[in-house]
Amino acid sequence: MDNEKTLNDPPGKRLTSPDMAEDEQSLDLNLRPRNLDDFVGQEKLKENLKIFIMAAKQRKEPLDHVLFCGPPGLGKTTLAHIISSELQVNIKSTSGPMLERPGDLAAILTNLSEMDILFIDEIHRLPRIVEEVLYPAMEDYQLDIIIGQGPNARTLKLNLPKFTLIGATTRTGLLTSPLRDRFGVVNRLSFYAPEELTLIVTRSAGIMNVAIEKNAALEIAKRSRGTPRIANRLLKRIRDFAQVLGDGKIALDITKSSLVSLEVDDMGLDDMDRRLLLTLIEKFNGGPAGIETIAASLREDKETIEDVYEPYLLQEGLLERTPRGRLATRNAFVHLGKKVPQGLF
Ligand SMILES: Nc1ncnc2c1ncn2[C@@H]1O[C@H](COP(=O)(O)OP(=O)(O)OP(=O)(O)O)[C@@H](O)[C@H]1O
Ligand SMILES: [Mg+2]
Repeated sequence: MDNEKTLNDPPGKRLTSPDMAEDEQSLDLNLRPRNLDDFVGQEKLKENLKIFIMAAKQRKEPLDHVLFCGPPGLGKTTLAHIISSELQVNIKSTSGPMLERPGDLAAILTNLSEMDILFIDEIHRLPRIVEEVLYPAMEDYQLDIIIGQGPNARTLKLNLPKFTLIGATTRTGLLTSPLRDRFGVVNRLSFYAPEELTLIVTRSAGIMNVAIEKNAALEIAKRSRGTPRIANRLLKRIRDFAQVLGDGKIALDITKSSLVSLEVDDMGLDDMDRRLLLTLIEKFNGGPAGIETIAASLREDKETIEDVYEPYLLQEGLLERTPRGRLATRNAFVHLGKKVPQGLF
């Protein structure tokens, strides 16, 4: 239907992409939980964080450096902000690719105040020479500045305020071990269960002031690839359908028909997920196929496939990583309605 099409996202933008779109940022800020009690799920991680935060507060010391790893949209940035508000300290945010030269990082470090949090997003993309500035800063709150060149070069040591570094990365595997080892607390975020996402959707609907049926919230939850950012995004789009085509209330039937229009299937897979699996199944007879080959065939970059698409397909048992390449599983054939080749499984 044409009028439905106009409600869709512009072509090229992936509705279930866990990456954040620019226009999403202001609503996203409202939906973002402010304290640990509002943060749904990741129970073990939250429990531990609470203890570490309390202990640091009691000792009036900065919290040890914290690393958050996990696929996009699971709450890494949110947690960094929650920690700063729980500790009642300032947070300064930057990201790996923004810090091109050692001086960029040195400028930020020397501007911190005692107990401040420095948040470095995409910390795996920090250039190596910049990363080396972090080692003494994290370990001894010291900055080593090299002045002069060649045989006359000298190192000046500068004391830094005691700060907490919070790093976030979608790729732990890409972090060098000297950097990883300097984090006192390493947290891996996992995909959310449907019950947890139902709570998140219900909470967000409340903030957006839109009525939602319980089973509609669960339906959105089940189709959000385990990711709060996607759950919130689907909720916003379905709200549009409900407003224009229905009475504004998000009920189960309008939710289901909207999801059909949005091309999100009953496992939460979207067009790109299906294309990835179909490529493996149709072009490579189920695999194995190397990641480069798949990337070239989909005209998508390898990192995006690895960071954004694969984690959920792996967790749902639709895809396997083997030393010889990627394999579509039996479940993938079945889910996509493809005949399972004899003798393949
Ligand atoms: N546990 C949670 N409870 C409620 N809402 C959440 C939770 N985790 C994430 N969200 C929501 O999902 C959105 C995305 O989370 P966030 O920006 O923290 O993800 P991220 O892990 O930093 O992603 P990226 O890797 O893309 O930077 C947040 O704005 C928030 O609204
Ligand atoms: Mg983030």
